[in-house]
Amino acid sequence: MSTLLRTPDAIKSEVQNRYGRIADENLQVAVASSCCGPSNTSSCCSTDNSSSCGSPLYLGEDLTDLPEAAVASSLGCGNPQAIAALQPGEVVLDLGSGGGLDVLLAARQVGPTGFVYGVDMTDKMLELARTNAAKSGATNVEFRKGELESLPLADGTVDVIISNCVVNLSPEKDNALSEAYRVLKPGGRLAISDIVVDGDLSGFPVSEAQIRAGLSWAGCIAGALTSDQFTQLLDTAGFAEIDIAIQHRYNLGDFLGELPAELQSLEPAVVQELVGRFTSSAIRAKKAN
Ligand SMILES: C[S@@+](CC[C@H](N)C(=O)[O-])C[C@H]1O[C@@H](n2cnc3c(N)ncnc32)[C@H](O)[C@@H]1O
Repeated sequence: MSTLLRTPDAIKSEVQNRYGRIADENLQVAVASSCCGPSNTSSCCSTDNSSSCGSPLYLGEDLTDLPEAAVASSLGCGNPQAIAALQPGEVVLDLGSGGGLDVLLAARQVGPTGFVYGVDMTDKMLELARTNAAKSGATNVEFRKGELESLPLADGTVDVIISNCVVNLSPEKDNALSEAYRVLKPGGRLAISDIVVDGDLSGFPVSEAQIRAGLSWAGCIAGALTSDQFTQLLDTAGFAEIDIAIQHRYNLGDFLGELPAELQSLEPAVVQELVGRFTSSAIRAKKAN
């Protein structure tokens, strides 16, 4: 069935299955190892082969003293801390916190007077994140079960929303961004990394619907918004000062194992042009005072 015809519940269930399996594998690492430090990850949000996802996006020194399983389970496509300019004492929320790496990094930046919440809908990911947080000794973090589309936080309680490659996974992005706006304090900001389509997916021998139907939703690609759509949804949710900046443009190597046969059979230059429209971008916006 076409990705575009799946129900929101079916998409969420596909996403939970994929990330539950990844969390399970990483829980075994978490239990087996007590040591910390950077390690290369083979897991990734968009593809299993990309060098543009996961822990290679972080500076090595940022990852020292963090549990190996937290680093290894990094599945993002950017580094939200690098764009969020977190300050001591701030309250932060990480949407789709996964194994908890971004929460733990943010917790260091906001320090003991700040606090970081992680929200995720996948039980095994929450278990992994809590295990990682306990190993790291972080006391200013809390992981809550919930969905982006119905956040388990009160209105106006968060200074900064971060997220790493998760909004693309939401089948109801308008609700997710309205919820982000709701929980932000007046003057609060959103600073997230996500896959964004630069321009649109027109001009190819296959339609946009065919392209999206062939790509993996759970792999963070099929559900990616265009830059204009992202801007429009943020604006509708109430955000101001919206800025979307491309940080990495994907190439064929990043997509190995993800491209369906019908796309692989196109001319290589056409496929390269197509995958090059997918980017990892930094998305910033503000809630007015
Ligand atoms: C690509 S992983 C990213 C995890 C983490 N941000 C990182 O950088 O490693 C996506 C995570 O978001 C969670 N997720 C996806 N869609 C969600 C939704 N609608 N509500 C809550 N969590 C969601 C998944 O369970 C998974 O843990």
